[in-house]
Amino acid sequence: MLSLLPTLLSLAALGASRPAPATAVAGDFSLALQATDYPQLSLNAIPSTTSGVLDLVFERLAAYPGTPAYLNASYVDFELGAAEPYALYMNNVGDDYGVAVPVQAILGQANGKTGFSIVEDQLVPTLDSAEESFFACNSTLGGVPQFSLFWGVFNSNGSSPYGCTPATLIQNFNTGD
Ligand SMILES: *[C@@H]1O[C@H](CO)[C@@H](O)[C@H](O)[C@H]1NC(C)=O
Ligand SMILES: *[C@@H]1O[C@H](CO)[C@@H](O)[C@H](O)[C@H]1NC(C)=O
Ligand SMILES: *[C@@H]1O[C@H](CO)[C@@H](O)[C@H](O)[C@H]1NC(C)=O
Repeated sequence: MLSLLPTLLSLAALGASRPAPATAVAGDFSLALQATDYPQLSLNAIPSTTSGVLDLVFERLAAYPGTPAYLNASYVDFELGAAEPYALYMNNVGDDYGVAVPVQAILGQANGKTGFSIVEDQLVPTLDSAEESFFACNSTLGGVPQFSLFWGVFNSNGSSPYGCTPATLIQNFNTGD
């Protein structure tokens, strides 16, 4: 399956401008993908086309260890050396069958989404409907094909949104402390 991931060339090009992890926060971790038929890939924040907004992509663990994150109350914050943390955010999808929206990290914790917890090393979101899930999806970000984190709703027949596979996010390792 690794051959289906974006080429190392495009990853290297993006890597030049990606934000560097900052000082460790106590209890921090990185997140990794657990999905059927996929290797354990790390979740990394990369620049988007919008300032103050980062895209979240899955990449080879050996090349990128994953952006350090921590739970603050029920926000998921990323440590990236900005004056404020970047917080995990996704739009509500409700129970709209087959819909999938990108999950991003937005500057300023208040811009993030609440309701996250860690249960047995797994990042658990608050569900608005039973059909909601994280997905790992083929997408194009800034003109570059990526495998990225989405939030969405299964189709009524139980299949994933187009180009997506159901994803579980697990704590990968403690980055410090
Ligand atoms: C956690 O959240 C509080 C309240 O929003 C904020 O004041 C504090 O700086 C945050 N802590 C970290 C480590 O980001
Ligand atoms: C399930 O529903 C989706 C969306 O309507 C459709 O694209 C897909 O082909 C369906 N899959 C099966 C196995 O019927
Ligand atoms: C992503 O695209 C590749 C190449 O077209 C395909 O083989 C793979 O199944 C797709 N992944 C998902 C989750 O749809």
